[in-house]
Amino acid sequence: MNLPTLLPAIELELQQQVARLDTSRTQVYHQMLTYHMGWSGLGAGPEAAGKRIRPVMVLLACAAAGGNWQQALPAAAAVELVHNFSLIHDDIQDKSEKRRGRPTLWVDHGIAQAINAGDGMFIIAHLAITDLEHAYPAETTLRAARILHETCLDLTRGQYLDISYETRLDLTEDDYWPMISGKTAALLAGALQIGALLGGASDSQQTAYREFGEYLGLAFQVQDDILGIWGDEAVTGKSAASDLLEGKKSLPVLFGLGQSGPFATRWRKGPINPNEVGEVAGMLQETGAYVYAQKKSQEYTELALQRLAEANPQGEAGELLRGLAGQLLNRQA
Ligand code: IPE
Ligand code: IPE
Ligand code: MG
Ligand code: MG
Repeated sequence: MNLPTLLPAIELELQQQVARLDTSRTQVYHQMLTYHMGWSGLGAGPEAAGKRIRPVMVLLACAAAGGNWQQALPAAAAVELVHNFSLIHDDIQDKSEKRRGRPTLWVDHGIAQAINAGDGMFIIAHLAITDLEHAYPAETTLRAARILHETCLDLTRGQYLDISYETRLDLTEDDYWPMISGKTAALLAGALQIGALLGGASDSQQTAYREFGEYLGLAFQVQDDILGIWGDEAVTGKSAASDLLEGKKSLPVLFGLGQSGPFATRWRKGPINPNEVGEVAGMLQETGAYVYAQKKSQEYTELALQRLAEANPQGEAGELLRGLAGQLLNRQA
C-alpha cells in the first residue's frame, strides 16, 4: 500500500469511466473530458491531471478501516469526477482562463460546450458510484451513492454563497466558514466517509473520518485562498490575480476588510484593476491577513488530526493519511 500503487489504479478506473463517452459521433466531447482530466491535448501529463487528493483519501480511508481498497476504486473515481465537474463549472463561474497550467475548457470550446462537458462529467460520477454494486451489497452501494448526492448538493450551496458574496461588502469571517464548508470541505468529508463505509467502519468511526475530512477541507481551502493571492502562478497553474479581480471574499480579504487602513479603503472604492493587483496584495499582507490565514489553516489541520486519531486508522494507510494531512498544510500548488 503506497501512493505509487494507488495513483495508476485510480487513473485506470477514471479512464474507464470517462470512456463511456468514447463513441463515434462524440469524439470531440470525449476529448473535452480527457483534456480536462490531463490525459490528452497540449501539455498532457501528471501536472495537467492535478493532485488526485480526493480519490487517494477514499482508498486510504477504506484500507485504514480494514477494507480492500481495490473494491473501492469506483467510489474513488466518482469523487474525483465530481471534483472535476465542479472545476469545469467553477472556471466558467469565476471567469478563470487557466487551470493546472493550461487553458480552461470554456476558453477552448466556449461556455455552452463547457457546461455540457461538466454535466457529462457529473453524470459519469454518479454512474461510477453505482458500479460499487459489483463488489458490495446493494444497501452499501445505495448508502455511498446517497452520501455522494448529498455532498454534491452541499457543494452547490457553497458555490451559491461564494458567487453571491462577490458583490457584497457587508460580510465578515462568520460568513466565510459556511461558504467553504460547502464548496470545498463537503467533498473531502464525503470522500473520507465513503471510504470508511466501504472499509467496514462503524457509524462512529465513519463520523470521525468524515470530520477529519471536513476540517482538512477547511484548512485546504484557506491554503487555496492564500495561494490565490500570494501563490506562484507557475506552480499553482492558476492565475494569482483572479480572486482579487473577481472580488472573492476569501479569508485574507475578509480579515483585511476588518482592519482599517489602505487595503480596506481601496477595496471599498470599487473593483480592483489588473494593473494594481500586486500593490493591493501587498496592502493586504500589511494588515496581517497572510499570517492570520496561515494560523487558521494550521488550527484546522490540528483539529483534523485529532479526529483522525479518534478514527484510529490502521496500518500503512493510516500512516499515509496522517502524513498527507501535514503535507497539505505546506503545499505550494
Ligand atoms: C482546487 O482543488 C479547488 C479547491 C477545492 C480548492 P485541488 O487543489 O485539489 O485541485 P487539483 O485537482 O489538484 O487540480
Ligand atoms: C473551489 O473553488 C471549490 C469548487 C471548485 C467547487 P475556488 O474557485 O476557490 O477554487 P479554484 O481556486 O478556482 O481552484
Ligand atoms: Mg470558485
Ligand atoms: Mg475558481
